[in-house]
Amino acid sequence: MPAQCEKPSFTTMKTQYYTASSLDGFIADPENSLAWLFQFGDGPEGDYPEFIKAIGAIAMGATTYEWLLKHQIFPEAGQPQPWPYTQPTWVFTSRELVHVPGADIRFVRGDVRPVHQEMVEAAGDNNVWLVGGGELAGQFHDHGLLDEIIVTIASVTLGGGAPLLPRAIVSPPLRLIAARARGTDFAQLTYEVQKARA
Ligand SMILES: NC(=O)c1ccc[n+]([C@@H]2O[C@H](COP(=O)([O-])OP(=O)(O)OC[C@H]3O[C@@H](n4cnc5c(N)ncnc54)[C@H](OP(=O)(O)O)[C@@H]3O)[C@@H](O)[C@H]2O)c1
Repeated sequence: MPAQCEKPSFTTMKTQYYTASSLDGFIADPENSLAWLFQFGDGPEGDYPEFIKAIGAIAMGATTYEWLLKHQIFPEAGQPQPWPYTQPTWVFTSRELVHVPGADIRFVRGDVRPVHQEMVEAAGDNNVWLVGGGELAGQFHDHGLLDEIIVTIASVTLGGGAPLLPRAIVSPPLRLIAARARGTDFAQLTYEVQKARA
């Protein structure tokens, strides 16, 4: 186990899967709820402001997008807020989804490779953020396009739900580059995805 608090890895031009997870590896419970996370307030304090500043392009799956609309954007959210991202956002879906007026949202489907190319071009010197879910992050990993996993583990187990990353990544293993405690509720682990030798 490396020493705690190595250098944060928010340097330039990486494709990062940055998310929060339960201890048993779920990013949402079986009902797609994040109540387990929001019981801690807005979630883990700490590096998000620094992280998002270094992001130039964002990708998410349809379930995550619809969760955002329902819980944060649309009137049914209770206290609706504006679309949270200034960065261009690619939403993967096979359906026609509602657009958020004024937001730079691009609906795409299929192979992640050409989309990733567009995202990297749009991001310039900044990073690409894969918001989730895990299967979508896995599709980027399948094509060697995932550089880093930053997972903030909440001190809960869910027993089931949306998996963090439904892939076998065994050899080469992930390389742990930072591990930090965030109060008594969270531990954040940063892993580099090591590329397999050709
Ligand atoms: N804990 C956290 O920090 C965190 C972060 C992110 C998300 N979440 C939550 O975790 C859950 C994730 O849900 P999820 O695992 O179902 O994942 P998701 O990636 O948000 O959505 C999956 C959907 O995305 C679409 N999709 C994925 N890849 C595609 C492709 N290549 N082409 C076309 N469409 C594609 C499909 O929707 P269609 O049916 O439209 O084809 C698929 O059913 C959500 O509840 C979300 O709110 C939690």
